[in-house]
Amino acid sequence: LLRLCMPIHVVNCQNSKSFDSSSVLESLRLDNDKLRQMMQLLEQEMEAGLSPATHKKADVKMFPTYVRNIANGSETGQVLALDLGGTNFRVLLVNLLPHSEVELTSKIFVIPQSIMLGEGVNLFRHLADCLLDFMKKENLIQPGVRYPLGFTFSFPCQQEGLASARLSSWTKGFTCSGVVNEDVVKMLQKAIDEKNISVQCVALINDTVGTLMACAYKNPTTAIGLILGTGTNACYTESLDRIGTWNGDYNEPKQVIVNMEWGAFGNNGRLNYLRTKYDEEVDLSSVNPGKQIFEKMISGMYMGEIVRLIILDLMQQDLLFIGQRDHYGDYKTPLFTRGGFYTKFVSTVETDVGIAFANTRRVLQDVGIRNPTFDDCAIVQHICKNVSKRASRLAGGGLAVLINRINKPNITVGVDGSVYRYHPRFKRNMEKCMKLLVNKNIKFDLQLSNDGSGVGAALSVAAEVLSTQNPKE
Ligand code: GLC
Repeated sequence: LLRLCMPIHVVNCQNSKSFDSSSVLESLRLDNDKLRQMMQLLEQEMEAGLSPATHKKADVKMFPTYVRNIANGSETGQVLALDLGGTNFRVLLVNLLPHSEVELTSKIFVIPQSIMLGEGVNLFRHLADCLLDFMKKENLIQPGVRYPLGFTFSFPCQQEGLASARLSSWTKGFTCSGVVNEDVVKMLQKAIDEKNISVQCVALINDTVGTLMACAYKNPTTAIGLILGTGTNACYTESLDRIGTWNGDYNEPKQVIVNMEWGAFGNNGRLNYLRTKYDEEVDLSSVNPGKQIFEKMISGMYMGEIVRLIILDLMQQDLLFIGQRDHYGDYKTPLFTRGGFYTKFVSTVETDVGIAFANTRRVLQDVGIRNPTFDDCAIVQHICKNVSKRASRLAGGGLAVLINRINKPNITVGVDGSVYRYHPRFKRNMEKCMKLLVNKNIKFDLQLSNDGSGVGAALSVAAEVLSTQNPKE
């Protein structure tokens, strides 16, 4: 029974060793007061992003996207799409059929580190190469046929139209030179034309926007798109009269999707009251220190790393994996290397229920800990639970701000991303905290939005091009 209580003892025990570990985990605790404070700050930062007087300096950029018509399921036609923004790059052929049916063919390509960190022109050349490869394979190269293309480019962009977007900064490990402040649609089109590929990029969207659109295609109450994957971000439909920075027309519909870029929330230090020394370390060793502070506490690119740093801290205090040292007194484990504990391990560890810890043991063996004790497993699981729970509450608090702001009786949120998809408890933990934070008159629903990045890009193209080519009866 004592052993069963281990995770609780880690937090509450009075002896000095356990007390150390309690302070480790205590720093991750995000109570409702702290969360409500975070919500107020987010609302203020959103206003700063929307106002022309403060937009330039604001962290949460609130970029209007020029996507104003939400898909309604009547769009049909065949469209190519590119999806760049996470660990993989995808080329897709999307066939929009009547009654919101969608057929997808896609191929995943890897973006090598050398390209992620190299020159921008080479990145776009690589994308064009992959597009050509896909089109050849799918037999899409036919004389006289020019395909429209939607580009899901999941980085912060200042848009001046649907097919014009200046990159404001790289995020998620990309640092390609010569792209910031440039129009990425132009750069892509140039690379496509250089290879004589008969394709025209007609729309660029963020992955959150794609997710919102793909969900709205099936469900008309959708008003928010959320990504919880390599990075995190949200978009929502905002009324034009609340967007001081809007410089488009005021025709119907008097709304536009706003890409918040909420990952940058906290860059100015306002979230320091809830950051831990592990968050600081993750930030300092990243390729963009001081940037994407909110994202670094939530998303998949960083979650495993936070867990690794906590594990290391406990190991160094001899609170974990005692007896696992070799006869030189060293550990042989990738846990000492940055990135040595993957975020997918957090999900795997948390799928264990009960006391056998079969998955946790497997994960620990993968990182070179051969004979973990019961306590080792319980502690590692406890760390994972605390880190992912904090992330889910931060994301849930952010969503609650949006839902309360939109303030409609029924609001559907389209969600996608690896963390949301594969973590066994993320959704449940988010919903649990949102029930407390969302105004009681509003019913909300989190819907997994399938293939939002691909389908959404196709839908934004459809709204732009196909509706005029294929007039509906
Ligand atoms: C990063 C990007 C953002 C994207 C998010 C999820 O935060 O800056 O544009 O939506 O990751 O992929």
